[in-house]
Amino acid sequence: MTQKIAKDLRSARWFAPDDLRTFGHKSRMMQLGYAEDDFRDKPVIGILNTWSELNTCHAHFRERAQDVKRGVLQAGGFGVELPSLSVDESFTKPTSMMYRNMLAMETEEMIRSHPLDGVVLMGGCDKTTPGLVLGAISAGVPLIYLPAGPMLRGNYAGRILGSGSDAWKYWDERRAGNISDAEWLGVQGGIARSAGTCMTMGTASTMTAIADAMGITLPGASSIPAVDAGHQRMSAACGRRIVDMVWEDLTPEKIITAPACRNAAVVAMATGCSTNAVVHLIAMARRAGVDLTLDDLDDLGRKTPLITNVRPSGQDYLMEDFYYAGGLRALMKQIESMLDTNCLTVTGRSMGENLQGAEVYNDDVIRPLSNPVYKEGSLAVLRGNLCPDGAVIKPAACDPKFYQHQGPALVFDSYPEMKESVDDENLTITPDTVMVLRNAGPQGGPGFPEWGMLPIPKALINQGQRDMLRISDARMSGTSYGACVLHVAPESYVGGPLALLQTGDIVQLDLDARRLDMLVDDDELARRRAAWQAPKGRYERGYGYFYAKHVTQADKGCDFDFLETGFGRTADEPDI
Ligand code: FES
Ligand code: MG
Repeated sequence: MTQKIAKDLRSARWFAPDDLRTFGHKSRMMQLGYAEDDFRDKPVIGILNTWSELNTCHAHFRERAQDVKRGVLQAGGFGVELPSLSVDESFTKPTSMMYRNMLAMETEEMIRSHPLDGVVLMGGCDKTTPGLVLGAISAGVPLIYLPAGPMLRGNYAGRILGSGSDAWKYWDERRAGNISDAEWLGVQGGIARSAGTCMTMGTASTMTAIADAMGITLPGASSIPAVDAGHQRMSAACGRRIVDMVWEDLTPEKIITAPACRNAAVVAMATGCSTNAVVHLIAMARRAGVDLTLDDLDDLGRKTPLITNVRPSGQDYLMEDFYYAGGLRALMKQIESMLDTNCLTVTGRSMGENLQGAEVYNDDVIRPLSNPVYKEGSLAVLRGNLCPDGAVIKPAACDPKFYQHQGPALVFDSYPEMKESVDDENLTITPDTVMVLRNAGPQGGPGFPEWGMLPIPKALINQGQRDMLRISDARMSGTSYGACVLHVAPESYVGGPLALLQTGDIVQLDLDARRLDMLVDDDELARRRAAWQAPKGRYERGYGYFYAKHVTQADKGCDFDFLETGFGRTADEPDI
């Protein structure tokens, strides 16, 4: 193991020379009330905090940053808290996804431009995990990811409520006229009861589990509920550990390797992961120089049983129960035979060593391999003439009768157009109809919105239907469920074949064969292709304009092309 000494510290470039610039840096540290001994020759740790009053999932992060700082000091480092763009899932419009890459850029540049030797990345709400990690991978200094932790279980009138999933369920019942105003208000007040991320196995819990399985969190950190005292202790431990990681020069490329990305994908499949995981995992792997593809994920999906009985893929439990059942370490212990346990982690030890002693305390929550929730992993990747570059479906979360399906398409070009029709009780629609929304991808949405769980038309709800086959180039929330084909690539807005589909065309899904096709002959498709006109760009200035120029398609992870590893040489480290 490399052991750094004080003069090798990156921060020494700012604080060691005897020159006018250093005088400036040091006098400004003194302006903060620190003596030179407080920061000289010590690892300077950036605590990148995505706290914001509009990021309700990170409401506890101001206090947690103090816990991290305490740990950094205990280990002989110097911690500085840096506010980072807080990409919150609840309020950000048009979509939080549009700003993931902005957080990634900010993270990379903030680290590179400042005297930081290592970083603790504080995130959790969906896009903050990939945003922070993408940027920090490119910056290359030692990192630990500190997950916000899930919020407590929801509760209303003695009933347990799960983030997202129960909102959709109760909303359908409200639309069907089965829920009073008072009940609706009760659900509203009971579904999010504490700081922390959504407590279903949605995107947040999936992405923090992925970070944990990649080896970039302290072992099992992702499962600790946000308001548990153990979360404070974990935060302080992150502070202590990152200081040693700096001395050990334990940089992210030593941890985020091809086998580590594979471990993360296997764990994601075993948790019943959010479909969003696919996009973020591919982006993160590519930044780390690992060529992880949709086909790799489909392959791992076929081999990995879903053993986590947490909603929405599981029936009964939530993240709090998952923690009490042993949490992610217990889950990983259960599937240890499918993992590469030699992978190095932030502890400086291997994944296998981190898993020693992990136990399952409730095998209905974390199932044995012999009794999975679903025999395969949670995601499947489709290809066909509707999605030549791939599309994603979550079979475990949909009614199995749709695994083989043929039906006529009902196509909507925009969300408002679709919204107008879904409540029309006279809409011509049958249970076989395949509802399609296009222009909802990375560019078309814009920002790849979570519209993919298209609402079931009222005309069908009234007939008692609660699921139907739906297709879009959008994403869907990790807490959503249903027979929804998502992430159709290339998206229709840039001329993907979904743009050529017409209402009445027959669409065929064959899940076993992993195919999604429109049964329209090639000549007819060529005619439609010739008549297709590219829509005008949605933005003429600003971030949206820049985003549209550079965002890649879903199958490539929606990173900005110029941020991808290998796009060009990375800027030299600042040294004067
Ligand atoms: Fe933040 Fe769901 S809204 S994790
Ligand atoms: Mg979400």
